[in-house]
Amino acid sequence: MQATAIAHPNIAFIKYWGDVDPDLHIPANGSISMNLRELYSRTNVSFDPSLHHDQFSLDGRHIDDDGLQRVNSILGRVRKMAGINTFASVESHNNFPTGAGIASSASGFAALSLAASKAAGLDLDEKALSRLARTGSGSACRSIPAGFVEWQAAGNDVDSYAFSIAPPEHWDLVDCIALVSQDEKPISSSVGHSLAKTSLLQPARVADAPRRLDICREAILHRDFNALADVVELDSNLMHAVMITSTPPMLYWQPATVTIMQAVESWRKVGLMVCYTVDAGPNVHVLCSREVSVEVADRLQKLSGVQKVLVAHPGGPVNLENE
Ligand code: PMV
Repeated sequence: MQATAIAHPNIAFIKYWGDVDPDLHIPANGSISMNLRELYSRTNVSFDPSLHHDQFSLDGRHIDDDGLQRVNSILGRVRKMAGINTFASVESHNNFPTGAGIASSASGFAALSLAASKAAGLDLDEKALSRLARTGSGSACRSIPAGFVEWQAAGNDVDSYAFSIAPPEHWDLVDCIALVSQDEKPISSSVGHSLAKTSLLQPARVADAPRRLDICREAILHRDFNALADVVELDSNLMHAVMITSTPPMLYWQPATVTIMQAVESWRKVGLMVCYTVDAGPNVHVLCSREVSVEVADRLQKLSGVQKVLVAHPGGPVNLENE
């Protein structure tokens, strides 16, 4: 009754921000992302009849707050589907900083969903796994399928899941992640999602989402970097505009975040295939073509306030270890 799964985090090109159902994480709008091959969460789940409650450790630290409750909720769903009532021990490790805007919850809940369902003797298909992972953390549903992934908003539990729109080898895009801070973010994304509706700008952002999704999907399918760059930056800025104008306001950027965004803009103006996107944290994901990725990583490393640059290529789906 044990299994280990590995999942990659993903970077959203079109962002999920705001829920229509906060408990089930049914999003206000659809989203598109790319899995990040070099980064991963590795999660072992072991159902053990001698346990009196579920246990969870993350990077060797025993967790007993909200993190345990979210893990417990996935395990509860799995137990219900499998018709068992055994408690489990969950051990998860990330090979990248947790909670710093690199979506550790996405890879963590994707790996947990596969490991827990396998350990319970279930054989869930991709769609069922994506729906299960979504209930842990919305963006986790996008870390189940491979490569470039779309999550349809759908507005209901059954149809709100993610699927691959292109495999990882379709386009050799590179994500150079400029780390500005590796601290835990001050406001969790679940709180942020619930505050999105307090912004006057959220209805406009959501209403225009189908148009941005179409442009982004087409740009990926046609490997059109310029079209992708424009829509990715617009979408990131729209989400941060909503964050900044929510009550209370959330400003995730630090001075170095803006320095990087401005540098990326100026590099693109002189012909470098590069664009930025920022999640719920201060770090900047800089997307570029493979030909210029070494130069881009090098330029980022030299900017003031950049602590480190992580480089990731399009990644595969969630997988059981040794498969
Ligand atoms: O899945 P959550 O609740 O961690 O929310 C993810 C929110 C963003 O990373 C900011 C956007 C996204 O679509 O990944």
